[in-house]
Amino acid sequence: MNVVVTGAAGFIGSHVAEVLLSEGHEVLALDDLSGGFRENVPVGARFERRSVIDPLDDLFESFRPAAVYHLAAYAAEGLSHHIPVFNFTNNAVGTANILAASYRSGAKHFVFTSSIAAYGHPHTSEPFDEETPCVPCDPYGAAKLACEHHIRSCQAYFGGPAYTIFRPHNVFGPRQNIADPYRNVVGIFMARAMQGKPMPIFGDGSQTRSFSYIDTVAKCLAHAPMAGAAANATINIGGDQPMSVLELSRQIARVLRVPHQVEHLAPRKEVQHAHCRHDVARRIFPGEYSELVSIERGLEKMADTLSGQAIPPPTECPSAIEIEDNLPPSWRDRLVGSSERIRCAK
Ligand SMILES: NC(=O)c1ccc[n+]([C@@H]2O[C@H](COP(=O)([O-])OP(=O)(O)OC[C@H]3O[C@@H](n4cnc5c(N)ncnc54)[C@H](O)[C@@H]3O)[C@@H](O)[C@H]2O)c1
Repeated sequence: MNVVVTGAAGFIGSHVAEVLLSEGHEVLALDDLSGGFRENVPVGARFERRSVIDPLDDLFESFRPAAVYHLAAYAAEGLSHHIPVFNFTNNAVGTANILAASYRSGAKHFVFTSSIAAYGHPHTSEPFDEETPCVPCDPYGAAKLACEHHIRSCQAYFGGPAYTIFRPHNVFGPRQNIADPYRNVVGIFMARAMQGKPMPIFGDGSQTRSFSYIDTVAKCLAHAPMAGAAANATINIGGDQPMSVLELSRQIARVLRVPHQVEHLAPRKEVQHAHCRHDVARRIFPGEYSELVSIERGLEKMADTLSGQAIPPPTECPSAIEIEDNLPPSWRDRLVGSSERIRCAK
């Protein structure tokens, strides 16, 4: 079938596009390259450099996708407090635009990557399930939750497209941008360790996350329109194994074969324990979940793909900073003055 994958030059989108191509689908890869790389788009996909906030009916109506996978977003959760207008425009208005184009062009299924940021900071050390109340604590999570409601309301009002909303968490693996200093703790640690520098940890590193290797996540996303029970479902997706950020830094030093060096920064406001139940995902995608890769093995696989590679220059935030107050000092040094720089570049 014909499918559109937005964000296909990014990390997860490129893997989803690759799975779809390998299974014989025609893939239109849409990305504005604001956070991704042209070389990530898998061979065989048709690439269009367009923004999800621009009119796209020409493209959708000529391609007539049966399914649309909407992954494009700027996914820097902590930074979203400081770029709220950009965050809502890119991530929420962009989603409304892609959903409208999907509906008008007759798409039957809409796959959306929300985030566990939609849950906010529940006061529990228990894993979140899909019934855990959603009380997002930052603009990134708030925009994702708004998109979820909008997608469901569109399906209820117009009778389609069917949707599958995924809430992924801490996904990592090959093709992840390791040069973005504002997101992806695995990538940040890998880049620093490869440079022989200490890995920066906010607080004491006892916060836990279930870091999730890409393969199972990408396959579940790709297969959602073909899995009957995924229609109109909301699904946590990722690994089950919690690990502290401090232990992650030890594992990264191990797989890169470098000394373990960390630098403790002032704690920031963040959820202490973020991990999920995946009973729904396991029921709908038993085959994909039977291949779940452990964090330790996933890090080894990611390190193998980085071996001998130069670290790309740091990528910058695609937006000017809108509110500078409360920026962590390590970010302030890079970002102060960025408003002026980004205005000049435009
Ligand atoms: N990586 C994770 O752990 C994680 C966790 C939860 C949710 N998600 C969600 O999954 C999706 C993919 O995340 P990722 O980690 O692959 O990020 P990524 O940055 O690697 O990929 C996102 C892609 O979207 C593109 N993009 C951004 N704004 C765009 C726009 N206006 N028009 C067109 N393209 C645009 C970027 O250029 C980039 O290639 C995002 O929606 C993210 O919010 C990711």
